[in-house]
Amino acid sequence: MADHRAVPRYDLLSPEFFADPHPTFHRMRTEDPVYWHPQLNVYCLTRYEDVQLITRDPRFSAERTDYYVNVAPAPMREKLKRYDEFISHWMVLADPPRHTRLRGLVAKAFSPQAVEGMRPLVERIANEMIDAVRADGRMDVIRDIAHPLPGAVIGKLLRIPSEDTARLKQWSDAVFTLIGAPAANEELIEIGHQGVLGFEGYLRELIKERRAHPGDDVLSQLLLAEDQGSVLSDAELISTIAMLLASGHETTTHLIGNGLLALIRNPDQMRKLRESPQLIDKAVEEILRYNGAAYQASRRAREDVEIRGVRIEAGQIAFGLIQAANRDPARFPDPDRLDILRKDNRHVGFGAGIHFCLGAQVARVQAQVVLNTIVQRLPDLAVAEPRLEWLQSFLVRGLRALPVTFSA
Ligand code: HEM
Repeated sequence: MADHRAVPRYDLLSPEFFADPHPTFHRMRTEDPVYWHPQLNVYCLTRYEDVQLITRDPRFSAERTDYYVNVAPAPMREKLKRYDEFISHWMVLADPPRHTRLRGLVAKAFSPQAVEGMRPLVERIANEMIDAVRADGRMDVIRDIAHPLPGAVIGKLLRIPSEDTARLKQWSDAVFTLIGAPAANEELIEIGHQGVLGFEGYLRELIKERRAHPGDDVLSQLLLAEDQGSVLSDAELISTIAMLLASGHETTTHLIGNGLLALIRNPDQMRKLRESPQLIDKAVEEILRYNGAAYQASRRAREDVEIRGVRIEAGQIAFGLIQAANRDPARFPDPDRLDILRKDNRHVGFGAGIHFCLGAQVARVQAQVVLNTIVQRLPDLAVAEPRLEWLQSFLVRGLRALPVTFSA
């Protein structure tokens, strides 16, 4: 049980921490690489090697949907049960063989050709969005580009009417708010529950319509997906689409925002990219390492496991802190430096092992196109606010807003 009175050695909950977690992560990596956090009720792992271990070692399980249910007070459990059932179909929270089956079916809809085929569409949308703000000489990167673009792209992939994407984003935020919160409370549980209800109602109708009028979109392919005779049930399908909408949107938004901020704050790297746009692939990998969007990959210990002299008891949750692992000096020389020419950059920004992000290439295409288009088309980029506000989430690292100016 979480002991909310105990004073943790490391503050992982304050706005100051979220604004710059790296000094804390450096201390944890050195002094307490496997740290039991008494408020979060989890073990926090900060070394690269250990994050690799929990994502690859079968002694750790991805199945942890009951994580909140057991600690929630009785009146909240009914709502949590429904939420729990909904997210239990997410492949990211499933072990083999269930995971193998779900991933196999969904992966068919994300072929490399299908993803590369999106590039012209992303280029068109990114250019239109920049055209809309260019004359103003200022924009909020999150509001004007990084937030709407992934919604438009995933909406096109699934062939969802564009007027509905805002509603879907609202439900996906609601579902995510509960998973991402450091601790559940009544208000968050209600928000998560409303998200589930919204998704279920909308997607049931959409599936009916798509069965009647299939096309070449990802949703139609999911409906047709067959793997040794096993198709997705309606509950799995609804939950999977919600997962694709939820996991593909927020993360991509913040990869773009964090990436542009990193480039603005490192003008030598920005200059290199402006002079050599073909470096964008390497630049995005370095941004994923240096200031990526995912916070953690967590797992539950199936049995007692000892790491660096600390015993993680069976049933306990281990948080693999991705941001910390990606700045581990034992793996990355000079880790606090943004270097878009970095070699051997095998970061864990998209996780590792069998749950390695299925949408990694979708996210890369969007980040590459948007960041290069902004850097090439908007000169003299500068941050317009001295104090930026960071999200207080354990799932996604990102900015609430990123106001910038540029030469019109
Ligand atoms: C910058 C953007 C993104 C980041 C940083 C990111 C990060 C991650 C990470 C760290 C994981 C592993 C979680 C774990 O091991 O517990 C993951 C899994 C996943 N991601 Fe992403 N993701 C991004 C974009 C996307 C997009 C665009 C999609 C889909 C359109 C997507 C779909 C998925 C799916 C389906 C999984 C689960 C894979 C599995 O369990 O086998 N992601 N992502």
